[in-house]
Amino acid sequence: MKKIRVLSIFGTRPEAIKMAPLMMELERHSEFESMCCVTGQHRQMLDSVMDIFKLSADYDLNIMEKQQTLSTITTKTLLGLENVFEEAKPDLVLVHGDTSTTFAGALAAFYHKVPVGHVEAGLRTYDIYSPYPEEMNRTLVGDIASLHFSPTAANAENLRKEAILGEIFITGNTVIDAMKTTVRSDFLFEDPLLNELDFQNKRIIVLTCHRRENYGEPMEQIMQAVREVVLQYSDVEVVYPVHLSPVVQECAKRNFEGLDRVHLIKPLDVEQMHNLMARSYFIMTDSGGLQEEAPSMGKPVLVLRKETERPEAIAAGTAKLAGIDKQNIVRMASELLDNPEAYECMAKAVNPYGDGKACERIAEAIQWYFGLRQDRPDDFLTKDLL
Ligand code: UD1
Ligand code: UDP
Repeated sequence: MKKIRVLSIFGTRPEAIKMAPLMMELERHSEFESMCCVTGQHRQMLDSVMDIFKLSADYDLNIMEKQQTLSTITTKTLLGLENVFEEAKPDLVLVHGDTSTTFAGALAAFYHKVPVGHVEAGLRTYDIYSPYPEEMNRTLVGDIASLHFSPTAANAENLRKEAILGEIFITGNTVIDAMKTTVRSDFLFEDPLLNELDFQNKRIIVLTCHRRENYGEPMEQIMQAVREVVLQYSDVEVVYPVHLSPVVQECAKRNFEGLDRVHLIKPLDVEQMHNLMARSYFIMTDSGGLQEEAPSMGKPVLVLRKETERPEAIAAGTAKLAGIDKQNIVRMASELLDNPEAYECMAKAVNPYGDGKACERIAEAIQWYFGLRQDRPDDFLTKDLL
């Protein structure tokens, strides 16, 4: 029997983390020939994920530049994929989420008339500049894709309201599948600084902040807020693995210089990161992935953004939108630090984003699409949170 050639295209850290378990699931099925093309939109941060999950790329476009623009990422990916499509001759392309790699990968597939499966489909804020450019990227990919793998019922509902063409499946988020292998109670960190942190007697806040729409004044406000929290609470320490974007690096170094209870460290590999989050007191972040991971660890999250396309954890009560205004962020962090009841209310483990079987459902959906099974996979059902 001719194998179905599935080409996964991704390029940044979060895409790799969330596609890794799916690549491993596809490998387990003899009816699929699973191939992988990385764009290298991220270099070090991508390679670190590939190493942890022992993935190797069949194609690597190696596009990253020091201060890359949205246009350079998109055009270099599109051009680089020309040869890849010629050689790989995929029957299906898989892309993930909402990065520029995702958009360019889907567009290239369309140009080659290859159907697209969109993993993490249907997240929306309905503000095209927030998150920027992600909201537009995922909306455009929604128009291109034939298979939409939505993590939650609310994501699928967004696509239905848009009368999107193609088949919609509710699968859960593949990041929850990835976490099955990363979080361990006996985990030892590589960095001695992390092993020496006093998780029992100190309150450790994990911070990440990198979004383009937060560049400039919002990022200043966020970092000043964190600075103020650290100065107000002597038992608080902040661990901030700083994204490699030069804009973020500069802002973090300038704002936290001289504060010995703010640990600016290099990006962590995903195992280190998940285990750090699992031991922390709470999380402050503008990252999408962290908003999905923290609730299943029972860790409160303050979302450092004006909006979120991930309202499920907010509805479940484990995440709060803290915004980008310094005083508001300080107020919300103080509430968590001062009020044990408020903390306990948020520190409950919930799983609105998945049950660890998203990749299984996606593989079954692909089988169904190619006529290899009769039934569609069962949807991932969450309690009706929204
Ligand atoms: C990208 C995605 C964003 C995603 C984020 C995850 C776009 C437009 N943005 O944003 O949706 O949330 O990744 O982290 O697709 N750099 C390195 N080494 C690395 C990675 C980045 O040096 O391993 C530096 C480079 O100078 C690069 C810069 O970071 O030019 C920015 O990277 P880029 O991918 O353009 O934007 P992100 O902010 O990472
Ligand atoms: N992450 C990581 N190391 C770090 C910071 C984050 O492995 O130093 C992981 C995190 O656990 C999550 C993903 O990277 O799985 C999120 O990526 P990022 O915040 O870069 O992008 P976003 O989710 O906002 O698109």
